[in-house]
Amino acid sequence: MITLNVNGAPRQIDADPATPLLYVLRDHLQLNGAKFGCGLGQCGACTVMVDGRAVFSCVVPVSAVQGRAIKTLEGLGTLDKPGRMQRAFIEEQAAQCGFCIPGMIMRAQALLERNPSPTQAEIRSHMSTNLCRCGTHMRILRAVERAARER
Ligand code: FES
Ligand code: FES
Repeated sequence: MITLNVNGAPRQIDADPATPLLYVLRDHLQLNGAKFGCGLGQCGACTVMVDGRAVFSCVVPVSAVQGRAIKTLEGLGTLDKPGRMQRAFIEEQAAQCGFCIPGMIMRAQALLERNPSPTQAEIRSHMSTNLCRCGTHMRILRAVERAARER
């Protein structure tokens, strides 16, 4: 058994230690915010936070995150009470198909937790690892700036 700390709560998982964190979150814990995009660490759809840093959960073995603080989209808020970053993405209508958005939100959240007032250049640089095939990058950028302003 592997014990994980997910969104502030201990969770016991019966999984092969080499299983990607993304699969454990989705298949064992039914936390479906993080998405499977490429499975190769190249798109960012699977981004979650580990100890405050954005990571690609598709390429992180679950054994590597035992005892570390894992935060997923579900840990930021709920449908009724979305968190600040989630609200900003809604208010800026940043999603088209929406597939990349959970990963974008988690990457942006990690940035603002470390740097509450990033410049636009810092936001662009930080977010550049996450891809949006729908091309809503400018709205995503505005959403992150809004969240920073509204903190
Ligand atoms: S699914 Fe993890 S980086 Fe694409
Ligand atoms: S909104 Fe469709 S991939 Fe980003």
